[in-house]
Amino acid sequence: MSTHDTHSHELEPHGDGTLPDRFENPGHPEHHQRLGDLDPKANKKAERQVLALFTVSVVGTIAFAVAYFALGDPTTDPTKIASATRTENLWLGLTLAFALLGIGTGAVHWAKTLMNDHEMSEERHAIASDAESREAALQALQDGAEDSGISRRGALKGAVIGALALFPITIALPLIGNIGGDWNVGKLKHTMWKKGTRLARDPSGRAIKASDVTIGSVFHVIPENLEEAEHPLDEKAKAVVLLIRLDPRDIKSEQGEGWSYDGIVAYSKICTHVGCPVALYEQQTHHLLCPCHQSTFDVADSAKVVFGPAKRALPQLPITIDDEGYLIAQSDFHEPVGPSFWERKK
Ligand code: FES
Repeated sequence: MSTHDTHSHELEPHGDGTLPDRFENPGHPEHHQRLGDLDPKANKKAERQVLALFTVSVVGTIAFAVAYFALGDPTTDPTKIASATRTENLWLGLTLAFALLGIGTGAVHWAKTLMNDHEMSEERHAIASDAESREAALQALQDGAEDSGISRRGALKGAVIGALALFPITIALPLIGNIGGDWNVGKLKHTMWKKGTRLARDPSGRAIKASDVTIGSVFHVIPENLEEAEHPLDEKAKAVVLLIRLDPRDIKSEQGEGWSYDGIVAYSKICTHVGCPVALYEQQTHHLLCPCHQSTFDVADSAKVVFGPAKRALPQLPITIDDEGYLIAQSDFHEPVGPSFWERKK
């Protein structure tokens, strides 16, 4: 179906150079019939193509659901989690793309090849519609539904209803799947750190000796026993720490008495603004910068906020060393890490 403006675009000035008030209506361009209008076989072929496209959507949605369950919680091995998550995201993305593409291309192909190929002229009229026009619009909608032939083409009707009915699964499944335990905010208050847990390098898991940490150096740290956790990635997201050695004379304050060891301090790496990893250390000023919105924390002064939108200091992890000289935690953090939440202080 195509529409044409009845006004001409050709400006033919009068002999005296002035433009005419109205222009002659050039009418419709020549109408070319589509192959499907002339050949029933081509029409049938187009119908099969539309059917195939909606079927692609149905298969895409089912594959999405399968991928969601089959690849959802693939491994507890921290060294394999990153690649497993990439694989899961790849399959979810691909199947979702096919689910959407099937519906979109199916609808467009249907309109272009199977709906009636009328040419119509649409007169310009006042913008405000009167009751009569609204009724006409409603009638046009009903005619359009009739025109699409949905009542006559049973298989297509089933396919499009099936595709549209199944597609919401791709949105609902992740939402439903993420409900449940996530509402238990109590688990946000604790991390894996406890008395005696060794500080280890991320991602190798190698324990760190105090003598390995030179002044000015920064270590990205995880608990040594991280891989023993049931959900190591979740635990890592809360427990990651930045370990920095300062000249002990530069330390102005800490969040607790004796929470550092010979100038070595450990602070949560999770920004207290909205949770990005704080990872940029400026050795001269002792400032830690969050790359997301530039919150800046002073490591020499209890990791207080000196700039940016964060409202709280990074929580400090109390540390010391064990008999073999390895750095260990004295306890868990004394407050929840990361962004503030409603029940944080309860
Ligand atoms: S998340 Fe760090 S400044 Fe916003």
